[in-house]
Amino acid sequence: MPSHRFTFSGPLTGRLRVPGDKSISHRSIMFGALAIGETRVTGLLEGEDVMATTAAMRAMGARIEKSGETWHIHGVGVGGLLQPDAPLDMGNSGTSTRLLMGLIASHGITAQFTGDASLSKRPMGRVITPLSQMGANFDASEGGTLPLTMHGALPAVPITYRLPVASAQVKSAVLLAGLNTPGITTVIEPVPTRDHSERMLRGFGAELKVEEVDGERVIRIHGDAELKPQDVVVPGDPSSAAFFIVAALITEGSDLVIENVGLNQTRAGLIEVLRAMGGQIEELDRREVGGEPVADLRVKHSALTGIDVDPEVAPSMIDEFPVLFVAAALAKGTTTTSGLDELRVKESDRLSAMADALTLAGARVEERGDGLVIHGSGGDPLPGTSGVPVTTHLDHRIAMAMAVAGNASRKGVEVDDTSPIQTSFPNFMHLLAKAAA
Ligand code: S3P
Repeated sequence: MPSHRFTFSGPLTGRLRVPGDKSISHRSIMFGALAIGETRVTGLLEGEDVMATTAAMRAMGARIEKSGETWHIHGVGVGGLLQPDAPLDMGNSGTSTRLLMGLIASHGITAQFTGDASLSKRPMGRVITPLSQMGANFDASEGGTLPLTMHGALPAVPITYRLPVASAQVKSAVLLAGLNTPGITTVIEPVPTRDHSERMLRGFGAELKVEEVDGERVIRIHGDAELKPQDVVVPGDPSSAAFFIVAALITEGSDLVIENVGLNQTRAGLIEVLRAMGGQIEELDRREVGGEPVADLRVKHSALTGIDVDPEVAPSMIDEFPVLFVAAALAKGTTTTSGLDELRVKESDRLSAMADALTLAGARVEERGDGLVIHGSGGDPLPGTSGVPVTTHLDHRIAMAMAVAGNASRKGVEVDDTSPIQTSFPNFMHLLAKAAA
């Protein structure tokens, strides 16, 4: 378990580029593996989570290779997945697990899913319920967790499913099961979540329609689909850029350009909230990359003011709360967040993990059932930790958020385990050291 003390090493300046979007990377491998012919992907995130997806798709018959900067995927066709002959090791990745459960649900194969200690605590009932309605069968561990074995259904039965939680993973699992299901599978989404599956499935040639009915999104996918191979360019991950956006905002003297950041509306909530707190974030050269809006972001040190964060923006920044809490700890006045029950079932319980970590670093935090209330320092550096390191609970975003806090602290912040950062942002520590040098 490599621990690390993150200390102030200077304002963030210059230009940097964050790795490819994790959600889009997973999907490009999965959809490429279901197309007939060769899909080429550039800008793929080569973190452990995406590599878990890659290994699983290989185990089910796809040929996936890298040459130069391009990944080449030779798919098996929808319906063509093969029975894996060993358990699928999902590592730390909820996205791999839930989306692959969807894919396999409408294939006549049996697969076992395993994962690390963090993933093995996370709820899978949310996908087991709709996929069972489609005909799949599950032997899960107590509480609907991993390790679990699933028996796909062939043919599966199309359903209409209204999402009980705002979750792009659950939405995607049902849509992916629908790909190899005769008829039309419908997902009703009362609260919009990231729409990469919809955009990309359409790009790969699936017949997928989205309609707005009484304020809800109704998504219909036609089964027995045929996917056509694509050239995919993966834009930079806004959820990775988030750490550098906040680090630049809270560190005096910073003026940083983060290039090629994906700005899909369903992902851009953090920027909106930070601007409302007084953050200077400028979009340069807005353009399209791989069918997604992208810009370079110029971020300058700013005096932030605490706000009440509207729970309605939560789905569009669901992975950014740990680092927003760090921004709030440095702001003037109080920041209140609510409606964040979902944060308790991420890679860790992010409300309790961040309340504990920020308190250890000297911030003033109150933990509530569904959010945190943070009384900011008014721009003064946090005291930092001494003695006891903060605990990351196998959660990459806790580690990176507290690294950012360390750069805005007097004594530095000691993080117990930096290895989870490999799941989503392998060169994070290198980029942080370089930008702050
Ligand atoms: C993801 C959806 C979100 C997010 C995760 C990636 C995706 O999860 O937290 O990091 O790629 O679909 P939920 O669907 O559980 O909110």
